[in-house]
Amino acid sequence: MAANTVTQYDFQLLCRAQARPEPEPTPTSQQRTAASTSTMGVSRRRTTGYVFVAVFFLLILTLRRNLSLNPARSPFAPRPEAEAHDHGNGDGNGASNKLHSPWASFPQRYPVRSMRPLPTGTPLALPRIQNTFPTETADDRKKRLERKAAVKQAFKRCWSSYREKAWMSDELTPLSGGGRETFGGWGATLVDSLDTLWIMGMKAEFADAVDAAANISFATTSRADVNIFETNIRYLGGFLAAYDLSGDKRLLAKAVEVGDLIYAAFDTPNRMPLTRWRLHDAARGTPQEAGDNVLLAELASFSLEFIRLSLLTGDAKWFDAVQRITEPLHAQQMTSRLPGMWPVVVSAKKQQFNQHLEHTLGAMSDSAYEYLPKTHALVGGLLPMYRDMYEVAMDTALRHAIFRPMLPDHADVLLAGMAIANVDSGGHHAAVTVKPEGQHLVCFAGGMLALGGRLVENQTHVDAGAKLADGCVWAYRAMPHGVMPETFHMLPCPSSQDPEDCPWDEDAWKRAVLQRAGMRAETAAELAEADAVIAAARLPKGFTAIGDARYILRPEAIESVFVLYRVTGRRGLLDDAWAMWQAIDKATRTDLANAALDDVTVDADTSPPQSDSMESFWLGETLKYFYLVFSDPGVVSLDDFVFNTEAHPLRRLRPA
Ligand SMILES: *[C@@H]1O[C@H](CO)[C@@H](O)[C@H](O)[C@H]1NC(C)=O
Ligand SMILES: *[C@@H]1O[C@H](CO)[C@@H](O)[C@H](O)[C@H]1NC(C)=O
Repeated sequence: MAANTVTQYDFQLLCRAQARPEPEPTPTSQQRTAASTSTMGVSRRRTTGYVFVAVFFLLILTLRRNLSLNPARSPFAPRPEAEAHDHGNGDGNGASNKLHSPWASFPQRYPVRSMRPLPTGTPLALPRIQNTFPTETADDRKKRLERKAAVKQAFKRCWSSYREKAWMSDELTPLSGGGRETFGGWGATLVDSLDTLWIMGMKAEFADAVDAAANISFATTSRADVNIFETNIRYLGGFLAAYDLSGDKRLLAKAVEVGDLIYAAFDTPNRMPLTRWRLHDAARGTPQEAGDNVLLAELASFSLEFIRLSLLTGDAKWFDAVQRITEPLHAQQMTSRLPGMWPVVVSAKKQQFNQHLEHTLGAMSDSAYEYLPKTHALVGGLLPMYRDMYEVAMDTALRHAIFRPMLPDHADVLLAGMAIANVDSGGHHAAVTVKPEGQHLVCFAGGMLALGGRLVENQTHVDAGAKLADGCVWAYRAMPHGVMPETFHMLPCPSSQDPEDCPWDEDAWKRAVLQRAGMRAETAAELAEADAVIAAARLPKGFTAIGDARYILRPEAIESVFVLYRVTGRRGLLDDAWAMWQAIDKATRTDLANAALDDVTVDADTSPPQSDSMESFWLGETLKYFYLVFSDPGVVSLDDFVFNTEAHPLRRLRPA
């Protein structure tokens, strides 16, 4: 119980420190716009905290000043409703729920007047997702188990370094052996790893980790603002999955605590959340308003975690919160510039999700699409709008955002690029063009279509999913170290051509390289310049540019290979996965753990330069998917669980 006291104490201290008679100026909408758009180069999950150190020191200064000058009263006077989360589980853990959840007493300025009730009814028996696997031969089994053991060994090494050098920090720095706070300072790696520890059968380490995680205080943060999306997928998703697997009630209590924290960011006039949330302003009682330019993924990726949390607690408030986002998205789906998809940038403030021109399944939108079929699976079809939205969105994406690249070996693969809905000078719709970009992040799309295709029984989706996953495997294999870069460009096959046939045209590739580099490519002399560009940028054949040559330990490619294997049982995928594993482990391994790479394009006989970073998704996602692809297919079956975008498996509703 000491832990609870500490939690309460920290929280009161924070509130007192932050409550000041003269409110700090709230950022102008321009500043807010700048803040959201400055994240445009960033992706679905991942904002690294480069500004963290500066912000941290500013915060300390502010705290110190306020502490000495303004010992004002906490705005968080406990209210009777604060007990709402104690659902009388009857196991004695209800009380700790209450004490652990300081944000439950957050006074809502714009409370919900009429709460949407949780869906009732019997979940449907949805179509089977996983392939029926034949009994494997003794040789196959031996090989598979060796591979699985190699992945577990790597996880153990990383985990014990984290335990020893960076315990309770957000991340281990894998070269220097320190800790780093990047996601609120709440132990992101610890929480992201809980379910992996369970799945890998590391039960003693799991118990130790849960004891520590039960101690994390979400009352305050060392950061100036909190990325609500990341908090949702890493922390809430992490606790929910660890609870769904282990049944340890302390984990559900922590999920409620994080759920209450996030819910406070929804306290705005139109109940749209702040995606980058100034927690301390909220604690001080500053009125909040949702942003005018926010990223689609950051607004529309709450459904899995929120609905699961409502189902587990019986408290409909999170379900209600997410439906208030999903319903207008549904209503506006066909009104956007590219009907069927929503643009990357949307207005939460105006609830306008149809204005901008760029549409993609990739970075900054990705999980908004990923969560549609997955939510359909989670709730056993009880909310048909998620299935509808998925089918409509994929119909548009398959036609406009996905392309076949021209490759030297004629590989029949697909990549997901960005569809631009052009407007002519009169403001009318013009042709839609595809920006032929490839990203590591968008590699999740193959798995999404394979899974979604099974759920809605559409083989076209499964086939497209397979080609998208194969596109990522192709890009891994094409690089000198067998590891794919963050972003690159390729040349789409001419659309006039028979889609079954896309012959390699070396001159067309060179022209595309020059054009991408902003150079002329008309005469033979100009075309000859291409070789120098290709050599300087170290472009493998097929690539027309490599925009970001890093590999930051991302999971999306193995994620899709894993899902596709579970869905189709295609044998070669295990060898693909093993080749990817060996390449990644070789290039990223450090004395302590594994590190991000700065440049995967360097010559095969030079080691790619490593950087001192290991994001929590390495243990939470990448190693989990590598482990699961080599596990018995019954382990965390896709017919029982659905993975959130941080690879946290949540239990699906099934008919009794
Ligand atoms: C939890 O926090 C308390 C108070 O700081 C500390 O004494 C205890 O050792 C912590 N428990 C774990 C498992 O970290
Ligand atoms: C399957 O998906 C494709 C692409 O979205 C679509 O054109 C087709 O109509 C769908 N088939 C069925 C049976 O719904």
